[in-house]
Amino acid sequence: MRKILVTGGAGFIGSNFVRMVLTEHENCFVVNLDKLTYAGNLENLAGFENHPNHKFIKGDICDGPLIDKIIEQYEINAIINFAAESHVDRSIAEPKIFIETNVTGTLTLLEAARDNKLERFIQISTDEVYGSLGPDGKFTEQTPLSPNSPYSASKAAADHLVKAFAHTWGLKVNITRCSNNYGQYQFPEKMLPLMINNALNDKELPVYGDGLYVRDWLYVYDHCTAVWKVLTEAQPGETYNIGGCNEKTNLEVIDLILKRLDKPNSLIKHVTDRPGHDRRYAIDAGKIIRELNWNPSVTFEEGIGKTIDWYLSNNDWLSNVVSGDYQKYYDSMYENR
Ligand code: NAD
Ligand code: TYD
Repeated sequence: MRKILVTGGAGFIGSNFVRMVLTEHENCFVVNLDKLTYAGNLENLAGFENHPNHKFIKGDICDGPLIDKIIEQYEINAIINFAAESHVDRSIAEPKIFIETNVTGTLTLLEAARDNKLERFIQISTDEVYGSLGPDGKFTEQTPLSPNSPYSASKAAADHLVKAFAHTWGLKVNITRCSNNYGQYQFPEKMLPLMINNALNDKELPVYGDGLYVRDWLYVYDHCTAVWKVLTEAQPGETYNIGGCNEKTNLEVIDLILKRLDKPNSLIKHVTDRPGHDRRYAIDAGKIIRELNWNPSVTFEEGIGKTIDWYLSNNDWLSNVVSGDYQKYYDSMYENR
């Protein structure tokens, strides 16, 4: 039995990964460690709480003794680190927690992996560590790191630490750098579910600047299958870019959402831009396609259709996450923008 420690498994991508593993890989036991910040939500794991191959533990990746105890108690073979503060706008408003969780937290996990001689440490990183592209070209694994936001700077710092642990102590590591994920259970601070939620409620859609910023959209399930392939098939030391080959401007994505929901374009409101906003991200995913035979399973049009349908049929989930503190966050970010 493979025994893995997944961190951040109550967040968007982590919970999708846990669901996929428990559904598709019966020979794997998952310990799911999550601090349950505003972004962590046990409802994302509904139906899997009592799965025999799943143990959820509420805790912080900065808590070294807790990590050691979990590794020993559950005889963990590998760590997959999804836990992070993940939203760029929040990192601009309050950067410090990004250093604590994304840098100190990753360091704490690396020390535990090294001291307990784990077979593998997988760091879930981001294409944002490469910085911003002009109109041409794509990020490859050789692109130098040049992060621009406090979020991406903290993720790049973590990537450097992961490499340093491999170089200095021979820790068997992989880094994955994916593009923008979308799909079920994404918290509506990120662009796509925020726009879906606003459109459903006939609220304005706050488009930063000219709306011509480009992201390379990756369906979350396809990201999860890629991470599984890295865990089970990659050579230690390798870094893999993961992308959906779906470059779209924000306005193109919003147009698809409005059409699918049969809402008018007049809901779009251009608002003050994000400071230091990265213009374009695009991933060259050739390495993982060639070496690990990974391929995305859906086109963007199929994926966004499934995603919108999921939000429509999970109205309870959505109304629960936008109750309470979400409204305060929304007002602080968008009022008078
Ligand atoms: P998310 O914000 O939805 O979830 C993060 C999870 O980590 C939450 O459940 C939260 O409770 C948990 N967490 C935060 N601090 C913690 C701590 N100190 N200890 C334990 N748990 C903690 O994020 P996501 O979108 O699922 O992203 C997951 C990973 O993927 C992150 O590392 C992120 O940098 C990376 N990533 C995300 C995207 C994207 O499009 N969402 C793109 C590229 C990379
Ligand atoms: P986001 O989902 O925050 O991801 P990231 O910035 O990490 O790529 O934003 C995606 C794009 O959408 C980005 O160009 C910023 C833009 N955006 C808006 O125009 N309005 C919004 O309210 C948000 C949250 C994002």
